[in-house]
Amino acid sequence: MTGPVLAVDQGTSGTKALVVCPERGVIGTGFTAVHPRHLPGGLVEVDPGELYASVVEAGTRALAEAGEPVIAVGLANQGETVLAWDPADGRPLTDALVWQDRRAQSVCAELAEHSDELRHLTGLPLDPYFAAPKMAWIRRHLTREGVVTTSDAWLVHRLTGRCVTDAATAGRTQLLDLDQTGWSPRALDLYGLSGERLPDIVDNAAPVGTTTAFGPEIPLTGLVVDQQAALLAQRVTAPGGAKCTYGTGAFLLAHTGDIPMRGTSGLVSCVAWRLGGRTAYCLDGQVYTAASAVRWLTDLGVITGATDLDRVGGTAFDSGGVTFVPALAGLAAPWWRGDVRGSLTGLGLDTGPGHVVHALCEGLAAQVAELAEAAAADQGVPLSELRVDGGLTRSALLMQTQADLLQRPVEVSALPDATALGTGALALLGAVPGTTVADALPEWKPAAVYEPRISPDQAAERRATFRAAVAALLDAAPV
Ligand code: G3P
Repeated sequence: MTGPVLAVDQGTSGTKALVVCPERGVIGTGFTAVHPRHLPGGLVEVDPGELYASVVEAGTRALAEAGEPVIAVGLANQGETVLAWDPADGRPLTDALVWQDRRAQSVCAELAEHSDELRHLTGLPLDPYFAAPKMAWIRRHLTREGVVTTSDAWLVHRLTGRCVTDAATAGRTQLLDLDQTGWSPRALDLYGLSGERLPDIVDNAAPVGTTTAFGPEIPLTGLVVDQQAALLAQRVTAPGGAKCTYGTGAFLLAHTGDIPMRGTSGLVSCVAWRLGGRTAYCLDGQVYTAASAVRWLTDLGVITGATDLDRVGGTAFDSGGVTFVPALAGLAAPWWRGDVRGSLTGLGLDTGPGHVVHALCEGLAAQVAELAEAAAADQGVPLSELRVDGGLTRSALLMQTQADLLQRPVEVSALPDATALGTGALALLGAVPGTTVADALPEWKPAAVYEPRISPDQAAERRATFRAAVAALLDAAPV
């Protein structure tokens, strides 16, 4: 029996919930903001209780707006955010350390000699972005009580009483054996986490239990990392395609088929999803600050918010010689230098807010172009186009700059909430046996397509300028 599903996307700055009906599309929505704390020293924490309350509130609102029952619920999570909690009563024992938190750098430094081994085993480089370094840090510095897991396992426990995580989220820890999609005893040993009670790893569309958190009893049948949910919703379900989501950070994922590909270009190799016991893999590259960099410019008073980028950008013809490396929380793939900080160079007395906005768009687009190029190099096939989603895709300036620097068409999703839609599709797959991905998702069509408007030589020149600015940062902060 098919019917509407509730899809809940628990993200860094808020929880979005949709009630999605296979025939009528989105029939209910809810959003509740959450408020991570940005502390000195690269610390980013959030109250787990606020995360759970936001899930319940957004989901309840979406259901109320839909005004009809759902057959299942799916939950997407932030990926690498971790906390310790008591499995006896679900009580949090620590704040949640958000994926952007850098405090576990010391754990990574100690494991430096095992970097290649961990990378081969798990597909991930050593970096405090991932869950395992934070889990080890919590064990050393905060508590040895309870369990320490990614935020999804805690939320699912609160919702259903079960202690599980899905294969894609487990792939964000650096504790998953990428080939076996099971916990790796060797990685656990290296991190000093061997004795831990870890969540059971389930498929991304699997009945997990039921919840009454939203009112009526609803089966939970879909669990996934947010970026992988967007990959599914963008219908990048076969090798060769890629998507980029411009959220708090920007994340480019390229599908690589059913064999894990260990790239050499600095991207992460991870699980896209596991359905019916079959695993699909992807390459993943990250820009740690996208909407956060826009918020930073907003806090400085240069713009009034993301919706103001095009107006202020329109006051200048170009960046006027300004180069912005918006590495405000360090550089991820392909550089993996979380320790460096951003730079804004080429400023003059004639520099205005419009130039800075152009420079920000170029800085973000140049990083995404590096990731797309790395994915293409690893796969040996050039990307034909890039499918994009997320709030910042509403900026025509950013999207045009992206197409220009990438020298490929950029197709903006007509589905504004791709992550929630992918999550809803997984919930439907889990709830209704025999459903296909094609049945579970609305037809994919772009709302807009941006074609490159500058020449390959101009694009190469601008990217060379950006690379030189990155190189200067790397030189200024030697490892
Ligand atoms: O890896 C972290 C990322 O998945 C968080 O996404 O949408 O919360 O910025 P978002």
